[in-house]
Amino acid sequence: MSDTNYKPTSAFGRWFDERLPLLTLFNGHLMQYPTPKNLNYWWTFGGILTFCLVTQIITGIVLAMHYTAHADLAFSSVEHIMRDVNYGWLIRYIHANGASMFFLAVYIHIFRALFYGSYKSPREVIWILGIIIYLLMMAAAFMGYVLPWGQMSFWGATVITNLFSAIPLIGESITQWLWGGYSVDNPTLNRFFSLHYLIPFLILGLVILHIWALHVPGNNNPVGIDLKKDGSDTVPFHPYIVIKDLFALVIFMIVFAGFVFYAPNVLGHSDNYIQADPLVTPSHIVPEWYLLPFYAILRSVPDKLGGVILMFSAILILAALPWLDTSKVRSAVFRPIYKQFFWILVIDVLVLGYIGAMPAEGMYVTIGRVATVYYFVHFLIILPILGFTEKTKPIPTSIADPIFTGSGNPAFAKKIDKDLQ
Ligand code: HEM
Repeated sequence: MSDTNYKPTSAFGRWFDERLPLLTLFNGHLMQYPTPKNLNYWWTFGGILTFCLVTQIITGIVLAMHYTAHADLAFSSVEHIMRDVNYGWLIRYIHANGASMFFLAVYIHIFRALFYGSYKSPREVIWILGIIIYLLMMAAAFMGYVLPWGQMSFWGATVITNLFSAIPLIGESITQWLWGGYSVDNPTLNRFFSLHYLIPFLILGLVILHIWALHVPGNNNPVGIDLKKDGSDTVPFHPYIVIKDLFALVIFMIVFAGFVFYAPNVLGHSDNYIQADPLVTPSHIVPEWYLLPFYAILRSVPDKLGGVILMFSAILILAALPWLDTSKVRSAVFRPIYKQFFWILVIDVLVLGYIGAMPAEGMYVTIGRVATVYYFVHFLIILPILGFTEKTKPIPTSIADPIFTGSGNPAFAKKIDKDLQ
């Protein structure tokens, strides 16, 4: 991957690179890195996610300069940011909506991996690092939501921290240890702020490992086959992928700006503009939209401990996915039956998200239970069996087959082209 003949052009560059080969490293990983020719726009979300992470860190650092992590002052310090700090409203709205955009991008990134089988050998470590990143993203988002100390912050924190009390024998002690007292209060707010500041940097470190692990086997691709060793299946990362990623990023930023400037509160909850009051419980406590599917799974079990176990299992099961999916064929393009189950899973997760936002009563409970059961059936039963029973379509020998209709078998290549659209 790295060009061993690479030498920085400037004299200073050469002097520096001989002492610390950073330029060689960047040249190998961000310029020369051989990328499959056939990547589609779903592959631009890794770059978009990197942009989201950097945006959250920069806006977060500025917010922290004006925010006060104290139960008596937090709510008004956020109002101070919105009204008095120069462009404070903009920085806060970018940070708050940035969290939503980050999750939107990560869900697309995860479902892309599910569709094209990017989690399969030899990319299991990339995938598992991704799951750890995702868990940390959820922790960071949850704690960040507590910081404005509004009603939803306080009651959301109370509901979620209380879940730990379901653990037999030690549950109560763990919950009080998390709170730093006997309820969600000032010490809780303080430690949440500290951790909310720390976690994004942990994520940054994990992202570096994620990309390092990616650059060992190289990218998967829409056809899902291994690339030819002679380099005829790849293009250098710069300028081809850089330009494509930047184009996708601009489109993404337009959507992002749409939220920030035209609907900055549409994804939030109006109750969070009421200061936290431990004596008044909101009629309906809901998490942010991106946590709703897991909230639905949690509430679909009548027993608290059972709900907690199931909710965590729903995420941890993803770590076992490379071994649960027994099919040797990576891309859903060549797996007609899996492709249908993939879309059913997408609908199932959307249904769970909807149920998570509804009150836990009547039909909503029943639908939530069916959708929860299906979620686990997909991973634990359908995927392992499908790998043995599904009749897959013929796999091309090179990614050039579907691209250059003239090479190989033209009729076959035409058909693949159609499938890929
Ligand atoms: C901060 C969050 C994340 C960042 C910045 C990030 C970044 C990236 C980048 C830059 C790539 C290469 C480009 C691409 O394939 O889009 C990539 C690939 C990949 N990511 Fe992530 N990622 C993140 C989270 C996740 C999560 C949560 C998962 C799964 C649970 C995941 C799974 C994967 C997989 C399997 C690949 C290999 C893709 C392939 O070659 O087909 N990533 N990631």
